[in-house]
Amino acid sequence: MSTGIRELDDALEGGIPKGSWVAITGEPGTGKSILCMHYAWAGLQAGDPVVYVTTEAEFRDVVRQARMFGMDFEARRVYDISSREEPTETPEIVVIDIFGLLKIARQLTESFEASGESIKEAVKKRRYVALDIQTLIAAIHEAYRILGVLREEKAKSPYRHVRLIIDSMSAFWADKPAMARKYSYDLKIATHRENVTAYLVSQYAMTTRSTFGFGLEHIADGVFHLWIEDVEKTRIVQRYMIIKKMRMTNHVKTAFKLDIVPGKGIVLESLTKTQ
Ligand SMILES: Nc1ncnc2c1ncn2[C@@H]1O[C@H](COP(=O)(O)OP(=O)(O)O)[C@@H](O)[C@H]1O
Ligand SMILES: [Mg+2]
Repeated sequence: MSTGIRELDDALEGGIPKGSWVAITGEPGTGKSILCMHYAWAGLQAGDPVVYVTTEAEFRDVVRQARMFGMDFEARRVYDISSREEPTETPEIVVIDIFGLLKIARQLTESFEASGESIKEAVKKRRYVALDIQTLIAAIHEAYRILGVLREEKAKSPYRHVRLIIDSMSAFWADKPAMARKYSYDLKIATHRENVTAYLVSQYAMTTRSTFGFGLEHIADGVFHLWIEDVEKTRIVQRYMIIKKMRMTNHVKTAFKLDIVPGKGIVLESLTKTQ
């Protein structure tokens, strides 16, 4: 599966093996969200249905940012899951931002309430919130339905290849980092299928230089790590990226210099050439 960045595809012997889950780790400003935009855009070019979860920014900000790099998401059939109307035609990309998650959480709570017990009892028992991992799982399933990739409503696996982007997973354990590993497993068990190739962003805590809520890396088939050199020493924002892991791939093991270029987006430069 193409990453949308030629140098990265080459470094992966052609792209990401289908069905892989790739964790994208790094501090703020390293380029994680832009990397996701390239991946989604490459999916649209390839004709893959795309599910784009964005907890960090509203999707219209993602659209604005992507446009600066020559990716025009507005020109595609985009459907926002928080929309009141069903799509008139099958969308190419379903977007789930915080408003979409709120809507799904409300629906889950309501269907729970309607499940027999008195409303008061049920509400006491379970109130879904937007940033619940179960809300995320339900939202992704709903996106699959809207994209028309499920053979029947109850099916769990898409019958054709789908790209899934979650920017970021850290939002789902922001108040309970110790749960990161369990939530990652829950998500993987519920949504990981041969036909789903995913990008999952995990924020790095700058203070400890480790991922906030360590867990995603354990379930990932691949890890792309991004960082910025100590700006107090270098007095310049210099970004790097390294492929730490990719299953079944004899990938490049050296880091790349990562630049974010107007009109283009992420540009990688091999360090082996410059050394
Ligand atoms: N139009 C642009 N041209 C060049 N660089 C940009 C442009 N827009 C944003 N950037 C760079 O991208 C950075 C944000 O990248 P992003 O992928 O959002 O980081 P992360 O998700 O890792 O926090 C900004 O800090 C800025 O340096
Ligand atoms: Mg980001």
